[in-house]
Amino acid sequence: MNADGMNADGDAMCSGLRQPALGSRDGGRRTHVHTRLRPLRRASAGSGFGRRWAAVLLPSFWLLAAAISAQPPDGASVAAGMRIYLQKGDCQACHGWAADGRKMDSQMPDGANLRMTSLDRDGLIEVIRCGRPGLGMPAFDRLAYKDGRCGMTEADLKRLGLTLYDPAATLQPREIDHLVDFLFAKVIGKASMDRAACIEYWGSDVEACAEFPR
Ligand code: HEC
Repeated sequence: MNADGMNADGDAMCSGLRQPALGSRDGGRRTHVHTRLRPLRRASAGSGFGRRWAAVLLPSFWLLAAAISAQPPDGASVAAGMRIYLQKGDCQACHGWAADGRKMDSQMPDGANLRMTSLDRDGLIEVIRCGRPGLGMPAFDRLAYKDGRCGMTEADLKRLGLTLYDPAATLQPREIDHLVDFLFAKVIGKASMDRAACIEYWGSDVEACAEFPR
């Protein structure tokens, strides 16, 4: 998924970079170059070399930069994140299935309305990894307060009287990435739930949507 996407872009970029050299200065010397480069070289043969070079290079850079900075969430990652949100991480116990703060378990702390969060990607990842000691948000990184990676150790928390809720499960970095992809795609900045939004959220008219009038 993500990794494959990056590879594809990476390859495209390398081809773009090497292709002008193949067409001119290096000529026949690099006969060992991967065969995948051939179609690109043919496409640029002829006049207008510089402009064609830019036409190949710039989109390649742009694609790579976009892949690195924005990483538009793919559907599979969003779906995986939603599963983790509802099941493995059981975020819904405190934040509600719609992540709007209407918690599922009345015994649990009042989770924030994540639709209204102003956190960016890094901020979200940090809160999920490190939790909010003393405020009811569990830490989902297994080593969060074991080795100081979240700024404090378990001894510090104890000294300060800050308790942490136990998470339903700890999560790997890529699982947290899926979660954040899910939050951006289906939660953050979205209007509050109504029937149409509920059906879109679940992908069909599930039982949970019955609470909203038609
Ligand atoms: C045991 C209850 C509980 C569970 C489970 C829980 N949270 Fe929270 N979460 C909270 C509470 C309470 C807060 C508000 C903490 C505060 O006051 O700053 C919070 C805050 C957050 C915030 C910060 C929102 C903001 O704008 O400051 C994010 C993001 C978040 N939770 C995501 C998650 C995700 C994702 C999961 C599941 C992997 C999860 N939470 C599981 C209770 C919970």
